[in-house]
Amino acid sequence: MTESSPEQGAAPSFAVIPGAQVQHVLDGRHREVVELIETAYRLHGEGQTVNPPSYFLRFPDRPSARIIALPASVGGDVRTDGLKWISSFPENVGRSIPRASAVLILNDHDTGYPLACLESSIISAARTAASATLAAERIADARGVRPTRIGFFGTGLIARYVHGFLAGTGWTFDEIGVYDLAVEHAAGFEEYLHRFGERGPVTRHQDAEALIRSSDLVVFATVAGTPHITDPAWFDHDPLVLHLSLRDLAPEVVLAATNIVDDVDHCLKAATSLHLAEQFTGHRNFVAGTLYDVLTGTLRPQTGRPVVFSPFGLGVLDLALGRHVYDTIVASDELRVVDGFFHDMRRYG
Ligand SMILES: NC(=O)c1ccc[n+]([C@@H]2O[C@H](COP(=O)([O-])OP(=O)(O)OC[C@H]3O[C@@H](n4cnc5c(N)ncnc54)[C@H](O)[C@@H]3O)[C@@H](O)[C@H]2O)c1
Repeated sequence: MTESSPEQGAAPSFAVIPGAQVQHVLDGRHREVVELIETAYRLHGEGQTVNPPSYFLRFPDRPSARIIALPASVGGDVRTDGLKWISSFPENVGRSIPRASAVLILNDHDTGYPLACLESSIISAARTAASATLAAERIADARGVRPTRIGFFGTGLIARYVHGFLAGTGWTFDEIGVYDLAVEHAAGFEEYLHRFGERGPVTRHQDAEALIRSSDLVVFATVAGTPHITDPAWFDHDPLVLHLSLRDLAPEVVLAATNIVDDVDHCLKAATSLHLAEQFTGHRNFVAGTLYDVLTGTLRPQTGRPVVFSPFGLGVLDLALGRHVYDTIVASDELRVVDGFFHDMRRYG
């Protein structure tokens, strides 16, 4: 029985976990979060998860917006089911609020009852950045070269979280490059880097090619809906590319790289760059394998080609991290239960 499982016949409890509590649990815990994410990837690779396709809700009257449902179930010690419900409204940035907003529902393994609703934009950004950090570490280890020049292509909230996780797990850089279509976003990110305490040179690039050619670790975190990077020659120096925004690279660039994904079926969907490459070639042979394959050592990406990691973003990662946040708050006796949330619990009244 879990902490929150009801006594015989008692109504299960339901809690709301606001962002401040989530942040308090995760603050400064970069290494621990990366390890939790690695565990979730391993469970997924071992078949101890259920992660159906994400459902994209789109709107004819708001074509740039979407809300995605990610139902998932994680076994192992996590033993939790649930749903992440995340909106992306890119115009929010112009309203001075973040593009993405999200909630995560955790369901009890034994009863199916929802246990909690968590603010989940922080969980989502943290798991994305932790996954990127894990991939960067393990791919760099396999290739035997640790990048020292990082380039952020698209400088919003996800770029900030990726930088925070890399720095928080011991990465240091000789040079940091930034590039964004919106000059004020690149400037805001540069200001964040200095405030964070980065002492090395930060270069704000005026064009995409210069950023890519001068970085051996490239982080794509744009909101581009269709590929805008078409020249494989820009990657001739074989960088490690964290392609978090999934739709920046043209099929030619994908096909010239060693491609690593989180889940093949998930990633070759929804007009991602890899999906376009599959449509272009009629096959999936350009996918070298998954991050799980890298973790288990069955895939060892080499130098001599660029490596592109494209994580679709699995709901199982959100669940694993959300469950950790929930358990930590329960253990510290700070769970904010909504009294009487489940009502009319007697079968015959
Ligand atoms: N793969 C995953 O698991 C995962 C998880 C979370 C977010 N994401 C993706 O990360 C991306 C970034 O999210 P965010 O919250 O930081 O968004 P954001 O809106 O805060 O920032 C995006 C930035 O990209 C810039 N940009 C847009 N198009 C560009 C282009 N063609 N070239 C250069 N810059 C460009 C924008 O000006 C903006 O500054 C989104 O695409 C999101 O879907 C992926």
